[in-house]
Formats: sequence, structure tokens, C-alpha cells
Amino acid sequence: MSPSRHNAAPRLSMPLRPGGARAGATHTDMAAPAPSQQHALREVFTPTRPQRSSRRVSGRQAELLRIFRAIALDRAHVVLYGERGRGKTSLVNLVASAARSSGYMVGRYTCSFDSCFEDIVRGLARDLPKSMLAAPIVQDDELEGCEAALPRSKIQPRDIAALPGRLAGRHVVLIADEFDRVEDSATRTWFADAIKQASDRGAALSFIIVGVSDSLEELVGRHPSIQRNILGLALPLLSDTEIDEILVQGGRDSGIEFLPEVRRAVVDVARGVPYVAQLLGLHAGTEAIARASPQVEPPDLLAAFRRAVDEADPRVAAIYQGITHGERDRLILDGLRTIAGGEQDRFARFVVSEHQGAHYIAEHWLEQGVWERLVETGTVRACRSIGPDCFAFTEPMLQHYILMREALDRGMTAYNGSAPG
Ligand SMILES: Nc1ncnc2c1ncn2[C@@H]1O[C@H](COP(=O)(O)OP(=O)(O)OP(=O)(O)O)[C@@H](O)[C@H]1O
Ligand SMILES: [Mg+2]
Repeated sequence: MSPSRHNAAPRLSMPLRPGGARAGATHTDMAAPAPSQQHALREVFTPTRPQRSSRRVSGRQAELLRIFRAIALDRAHVVLYGERGRGKTSLVNLVASAARSSGYMVGRYTCSFDSCFEDIVRGLARDLPKSMLAAPIVQDDELEGCEAALPRSKIQPRDIAALPGRLAGRHVVLIADEFDRVEDSATRTWFADAIKQASDRGAALSFIIVGVSDSLEELVGRHPSIQRNILGLALPLLSDTEIDEILVQGGRDSGIEFLPEVRRAVVDVARGVPYVAQLLGLHAGTEAIARASPQVEPPDLLAAFRRAVDEADPRVAAIYQGITHGERDRLILDGLRTIAGGEQDRFARFVVSEHQGAHYIAEHWLEQGVWERLVETGTVRACRSIGPDCFAFTEPMLQHYILMREALDRGMTAYNGSAPG
């Protein structure tokens, strides 16, 4: 566990502007945003889109280097896994563009629940530019990309190893994203076989398999025969400095400044998750632009919290309401806030220790029975593959939901009891 300064909920000092005219409505309700600056803001803060340009990607240099080394030096394959919204696709976008610039051929495919080995491999080949096709084995001009380098009959793992020999470039990188969505377990075994055959024959081909998962085995299955041919990379959270950088850089590119206290509060709520920083940057920036301010101030962020809470996944809101009985169960609420703001590792997991029936977490004792309820209701889940006392929120966005609601509570106190928005 890395030390964390998040032992309390995000704190916003709430300087009320003269007149204090915020109660009841957000800025977006009051005025139409300036279109061009709003457009610039939407280009910069993209909670619904993975990053495409390295300029907008905060951190990730170490991961980029590790993946590149694995492919280029070790001719290995990569399995990149992590929770939702942590930046897996953004990172592989960087890998793909760096690989293309270095002369690699890159094919990509986004899996869906019904994808099978055949669909994925054909999709990857179709994504390779046709100009790379050197020795087709099927004569059919209708086939897209480099699909003609694959046999018309059912594809076998050995066909993968033969693929680079039918192409014009020197090394092929094949990226299969959202692999966790594939329901067919045989597809995982077929991929393991394809990796084994490609490695044994020294084929100039690397797979990058990407998906939501706690572990490599959970994503691709357990295949001891290919373990040494694979780099398993768990994508960590961003550091606080890297989250801050998203706001600093985004502010610079969209022409607004996020005040330091706003950035600190976003860092406290985001807890290293870039999606949350993108979402709050967009909402808070929209508020500032709507009131024609060049600066994003604490009330703008409170309005952003309000909007994020109102628009949160209904499942997350339902879990929160259910477990806290609409915030009436103060013991549970305090326990949730302690965990959400408490110490966590680089993957948002925390350790809970038990002593004489009481539970200790994040330098706090939880009230008797609180921990059992969180476990019984499935609000938290054990990460057994990591360690016996290691846990995480079952629904990762719940952590941010709890922290934003707490920040709103504090904000409302600063507003003398009147809610922003
Ligand atoms: N390093 C980064 N710097 C800035 N923003 C980032 C970074 N990584 C990801 N983001 C932003 O975070 C959000 C989620 O990123 P991305 O889609 O890459 O995550 P993911 O892990 O692929 O998510 P999912 O599991 O849902 O596919 C996007 O808004 C993206 O723009
Ligand atoms: Mg993704």
C-alpha cells in the first residue's frame, strides 16, 4: 500500500462571491455558453472519448516504454488490464501511433460479447492497410485490408504465425481491445495457442490484448505454456500530480484557468482516475464559461459535482441510497466516506485488518457491524488474487460518488445551507 494523503473527504474552501447568488441554479441554467470556447473545452475534456494525442495524455510514459520494449526487444505479447476508465484504450492509442511511426504494421479490433477467435483475427487483418499485402493466399478484390492473407477456411492458430510472411512490413502488432467482453471461453484458448505458435516460430508478430480485469489470468485464462511469452501489465491509477496536469494542460488549451483549490478538490475526488478528472474538468469549465469567467472557481466545481451526481449511473446511486438508507444511516455513511477517502494502493484497493472483531481501515476503526454490512451487501469485494485482506469497491464509480456527495454536503454548509444547483 502506498501512503496516501486522502484520509478525509475532498475539501473545498468556498469563498462566496459578493452577493452569493448561486443558490438554486447552475450557471448552465442561467446563460447559454459562449459557443467557440465551449467547443474548445469539449475538444480538450473528453470524458466519453479515449485520448488520441500524446499531448493530452498525462503520465503513462513508463507503461508506454514497457510495452514498446516487450514488443520490439523481446518480441513478446502484451496483456494490458485494469478497471474501467483508467486509460487502457488511451494508452494503446499511444502505443499504436508510436508503433506506426516506427514502421510497425498495426491492426486493431474492438471485441464484443459475441466475438469469437475467427471474428477477431479477421477483424484485425481487415484493419491492416491493403498496401501491406505482399503474398495473398486468397484472390478476392472484395476482401478488405489484409484479410486475403488469411485462408478462406476456418482460421487455425498456425495461420497467425504465417501471417507476417504474407505482408510487406517487418513486424505486425495486433491489438484486441475490450477482450473482457468476449463470452466464449474457447476463444481465450485459441488465442493462447496462437500466441504459443507465433512465439515458437519466432514470427514477427505481437498481440496486445486489452480488457477490464483484476488479473492476467482472469482476462486471458490460465495457460502456463505461454507465461514467459507474455508481459502482463496492470494499468495503475494516475498520480495526483498527473491528475492535476490534466486540468492544468486542459485549462491552457481551452483558455480557462482552474484555480489551485479547484484542482486540489478534483484530485481528491478523482483518486487517480483520469475519467473523473475529464468529467469534472468539462462540467466545471462549462460553468465558468457560462458566466464568462476566465477562471474556474469553487462554486463552478460544486455545480460540476451536482451534475455528475445527478447524471451518475443509476445503479451507483441505487447502491448508495440502499446501503445508507438515503443517508439516514450515519454509521454506514461515515464508514463509506472513510474508505472512499482513505489509503489505497495504485489500483484503488485497500487493506482491512481485523482485531478482536473490530475492523481497521485507512487509519480508522470502523464501527462494529459496518464492515460486515458492506461485505454482506456486496458493496465491497475481496481481491483474493491480490491478498487475503485486500478489498475494493465492487462498483468503482461508487467511490467517487460518495466523495462528491460529501463535498456537496460541505459546500452546502459553506453556502449557509442553500444547495448549489
Ligand atoms: N493518461 C491520461 N491523461 C488524460 N486523460 C486520460 C488518460 N487516460 C485516460 N484518459 C481519459 O480517461 C477516460 C477513460 O479513458 P479510456 O477510455 O482510455 O479508459 P479505458 O480504461 O479504456 O476505459 P474502458 O475500460 O471503459 O474501455 C477518457 O475520457 C480519456 O480521455
Ligand atoms: Mg477502453
